[in-house]
Amino acid sequence: MTQPTYVVIGNPIAHSKSPQIHAAFAAQFADHPAVSSFDYQQLLAPLDGFSATVNAFADAGGRGANVTVPFKEGAFRWVGEQLTERAAAAGAVNTLVRQANGTWQGDNTDGAGLVADLLRHIDLRDQRILLLGAGGAARGALLPLLQQQPKSLSVANRTQSKAQLLLDEVAAPWLHAQDVSLPMLSLGFDDLLDEVVIAERLQFDVVINGTSASLSGERLPIGDAIFAPNALAYDMMYGKNETPFLAQARRAGVHQRVDGLGMLVGQAAEAFELWTGLRPDVAPVLQWMREQI
Ligand code: ATR
Repeated sequence: MTQPTYVVIGNPIAHSKSPQIHAAFAAQFADHPAVSSFDYQQLLAPLDGFSATVNAFADAGGRGANVTVPFKEGAFRWVGEQLTERAAAAGAVNTLVRQANGTWQGDNTDGAGLVADLLRHIDLRDQRILLLGAGGAARGALLPLLQQQPKSLSVANRTQSKAQLLLDEVAAPWLHAQDVSLPMLSLGFDDLLDEVVIAERLQFDVVINGTSASLSGERLPIGDAIFAPNALAYDMMYGKNETPFLAQARRAGVHQRVDGLGMLVGQAAEAFELWTGLRPDVAPVLQWMREQI
């Protein structure tokens, strides 16, 4: 097999849809010199062998890589200091970009992919946003969401102290550096029970699920009252069937419900642009992916 110029590295990796997505993007620019040698493949790394795998890929002339589960934190460490602001804030790298001088920069396009997909449905400015979860996925979304100048940003997590930590360590320093102030709340799921929400008026216009609860099919212990009238519910997860969180939102009467397939295609579009300088059209690829799952 010839050495591909771009790869997605993970373990497992066979299920990854990234090669299909990037091939579809490249096909949009068929005659462009920037994609004439664009070849994107899956690369399986052993669980204890991320660095060795990416070093070998780099030595053989690789130009860019996406990094997926469970190596995003490993990629963050592998890069060292050359991190974009959003990757540093996320504490994780999902895109490696070879610079003109041969060194590697680590970026994280997950949050930008999320925001780009949200903006297809709703203007985030002046909205009350609630992010559910305080793990890696939620952390990566914080800065890109704040950059949209919402009215407020709250983070709720099963373990509330982790939500507070995200606001203190990631969101607050960034806001401070921008000289911007914004109401932020850290919440536990107990704060999202209907009676509390109604009493405290803790309603939200955009509720984003960044927990991994859907993976185990678990229902989140949140009340229906968190959704403001005309709220949008967004699940970073996606699947052939409606996700448990979006089913929960439907039962709560939420009309605008969006799963994370667009985030997947959106983060890939951001990476493709970083590598080639070309901005692909996401909509037809998203529609095509929807038919595939
Ligand atoms: P990821 O990289 O997908 O974000 P993670 O860093 O392990 O994964 O974080 C998982 C997130 O989902 C956490 O916010 C976790 O809550 P805790 O911090 O309290 O562990 C949340 N989570 C996982 N399973 C959950 C469940 N069944 N109910 C509610 N929250 C859950």
